Amino acid sequence: MATRRHEEQLSDSLAARLAATRRLTLDLAAPLSDADATVQPHPDASPAKWHLAHTTWFFETFILRDHVPGYSLHDERWPYLFNSYYEGEGERHARPRRGMISRPSLDEIRDWRRVVDMALQEALPVISPAAVKLVELGIQHEQQHQELFLTDILATFAENPLEPAYGRVDGAPCHSTEPLAWIDGREGLVEIGAASGFAFDCERPRHRALLHPHRIANRCVTNGEWQQFIDDGGYSTATLWLSEAWDWIRAERIERPLYWYDDGTHFTLAGRLEIDRAAPVAHISYYEAEAFTRWAGARLPTEAEWEDAFASSDPMIGHQLDRAGPVLPKPGGGPFGDVWQWTGSAFLPYPGFKPEAGTVGEYNGKFMCGQFVLKGASCATPRGHSRASYRNFFPPSARWQFTGVRLAQDA
Ligand SMILES: [Fe+2]
Repeated sequence: MATRRHEEQLSDSLAARLAATRRLTLDLAAPLSDADATVQPHPDASPAKWHLAHTTWFFETFILRDHVPGYSLHDERWPYLFNSYYEGEGERHARPRRGMISRPSLDEIRDWRRVVDMALQEALPVISPAAVKLVELGIQHEQQHQELFLTDILATFAENPLEPAYGRVDGAPCHSTEPLAWIDGREGLVEIGAASGFAFDCERPRHRALLHPHRIANRCVTNGEWQQFIDDGGYSTATLWLSEAWDWIRAERIERPLYWYDDGTHFTLAGRLEIDRAAPVAHISYYEAEAFTRWAGARLPTEAEWEDAFASSDPMIGHQLDRAGPVLPKPGGGPFGDVWQWTGSAFLPYPGFKPEAGTVGEYNGKFMCGQFVLKGASCATPRGHSRASYRNFFPPSARWQFTGVRLAQDA
């Protein structure tokens, strides 16, 4: 009897978290027109409407279709449009063409969300433990897409010469920078990876890693420090750059972080703003982060160094996403928030890694090639989503996320 009550309580809290997560996505879309939500600014980014639909497809496919007897798909043609990359789910619309999907409309997608949400809430108290696990994965998945929603709408509005603002922010830049200090890292064998609680498959198993003598910076590199790198000819000094990175900045004519102008302003979700010199620099690639560390006489931390340094920091604290609205990195935050921090570690399987069973096993494992790990969280990460063992990952040229850099050094 006590166990039954415990299960009911777990189901109630899962239902509440599911409802809150689904509501936040709708709130994020509230300021957008159907046209705003349909634009795809570049092949790596997706239309806002697609995010609303794809997260719904995930729940409809992996929970309702697979675990709720008698459920019939809201529209049998839509999985083709809104499957992202799951080969196990068959053919799908080409990712770079997502911006061509003017139908279904944003309102039709909202209707679909309502239908799926009602079916999920009805099913939650009676579905199997395996399906409950997938609902948890669906919540975490939707949170990841909430972050992508914001970075993709930033990329969308950045394309428009009218410089539309997604929302307004209060407060002026503070320009007052916390002094850089070095934290001595531990040396020897440590343990990294997720021990308990929800974690993605790629964070497991927990295992030993060897740390060499090192130091890690107390804060991220700021916009003001990045400006010094630019003023010092950082982007035109070949010896600072990896060969592949140098080819890339010349081919793409990269001279400053994405969204920066040369007049001390940058484009943000709140429109064009003065750059705050004290805030962490954002929208830099791995290539740029790595070159900066060389200029600064430092290096990138490894993922094990980062995780061990901040394993006891509270991942709930910091500038993260609490409610729908424009977000941007601010000064004075901790390791979790403002910007994801590039590490020098390739996104590879941990010793003993096993992908989840079934089609959701495609979630992370198949991307373990050509990508680097980022640690922490950003101003667009829903609070509660990240943790020290979290492994975000992007290719070395990606810049449209809130990505920054924290320095490390050999000791
Ligand atoms: Fe997804």
